[in-house]
Amino acid sequence: MKGYKVAVMGATGLVGQEVIKILVQRKFPVESISLLASDRSAGKKAFFNHDEVEVKETTPESFEGMDIVFSAVETGISKRFAPIAVQAGALVIDKSNAFRTDPAVPLVVPEVNGQDIRWHKGIIASPNCSTIQMVVALNPLHKANPIKRIVVDTYQSVSGTGSAAIEELTAQAKQVLNGQATAPHVYHHQIAFNVLPEIDVFMDNGYSKEEWKMVEETRKIMHADELAISATCVRVPVFISHSEAVNIEFSEAMTPDEVRRILSQSPGIKVLDDPMISLYPQAWAAAGTDEVFVGRIRQDASHPRGIVMWVVADNLRKGAALNAVQIAEEAIKRDWLKPTRNPETVGAGLKPARPGGQE
Ligand SMILES: NC(=O)c1ccc[n+]([C@@H]2O[C@H](COP(=O)([O-])OP(=O)(O)OC[C@H]3O[C@@H](n4cnc5c(N)ncnc54)[C@H](OP(=O)(O)O)[C@@H]3O)[C@@H](O)[C@H]2O)c1
Repeated sequence: MKGYKVAVMGATGLVGQEVIKILVQRKFPVESISLLASDRSAGKKAFFNHDEVEVKETTPESFEGMDIVFSAVETGISKRFAPIAVQAGALVIDKSNAFRTDPAVPLVVPEVNGQDIRWHKGIIASPNCSTIQMVVALNPLHKANPIKRIVVDTYQSVSGTGSAAIEELTAQAKQVLNGQATAPHVYHHQIAFNVLPEIDVFMDNGYSKEEWKMVEETRKIMHADELAISATCVRVPVFISHSEAVNIEFSEAMTPDEVRRILSQSPGIKVLDDPMISLYPQAWAAAGTDEVFVGRIRQDASHPRGIVMWVVADNLRKGAALNAVQIAEEAIKRDWLKPTRNPETVGAGLKPARPGGQE
């Protein structure tokens, strides 16, 4: 099998580290690997498949000769470097929010809309972590019985914010247990032993940007512009895995058994649902796994066409790194690595942003 020249941008971060692990675990055809981060990490050593690799500072020259770039950096950095990587001939699979709602960029969850990879012009966006696990669980049901409305409440782990948030929760938990005062840095309030209904910035309509990402991204991935969605996104003191209570209104009535049957036959999903023995998806058990777990499937007692369920997945794997690697695998499998249409317009309209540009 042909091997590919692969770069991981953000290789020292939580998602980048997971990408490296998953490339090895899934025996991704890597010919060479380039690990990129900020100048702070230049010269540090990291491992790829037991081989020590030096981390390099990301510069415009970092992408020359690359086939695939996994971008796991914040939005402003991705906006700056992704177009440069595309101009250099690479396919960029971006984990940030930089291009997700750009109509010229496909937003892909392979189990749901893998065919959208085909029309990429050099960049493919991987959705927000809470959106990915929800659409994996909803899409097979939507195909069987069109969904009219979704109300979702999330319980999102701190790893969704990055490595600094893991350190903050660890430090604060110790401080609280030792009777010491805590000082929040990453979040606006203490996260240890607390629950914060604030993820990303608040918008004029009262929703947070994270909540609005779930609305816009779900519609784009599922090709369902009219889908009614309301989300409340909440940060909880859990290290890894996001949990979601999802309330769905279908076009027709559907029994919980029918929902269980469809989901248990769908790719990437594992149904764990036996309340009699307290069997349901849990965040800690989902950490380090690849499936989207669904349980607590029940009729909505307040609506004849309503179903309620509980959806859990590892936000660093299916919610981020695994989804990105699956996109690359799908592009290779279908021979869609290079843009198929108008190759001369690769990168057009994707001007490099100023260094340090923010969301
Ligand atoms: N965490 C999740 O569950 C999750 C899920 C979906 C999407 N995402 C998105 O994935 C991206 C990465 O998230 P993360 O959680 O992995 O964050 P993280 O742990 O904070 O890691 C950030 C990475 O970006 C690198 N970086 C910072 N400044 C840079 C620069 N100027 N040039 C090049 N690299 C630079 C860092 O390198 P240094 O170590 O050198 O600073 C580090 O490798 C974000 O856009 C995030 O929104 C995250």
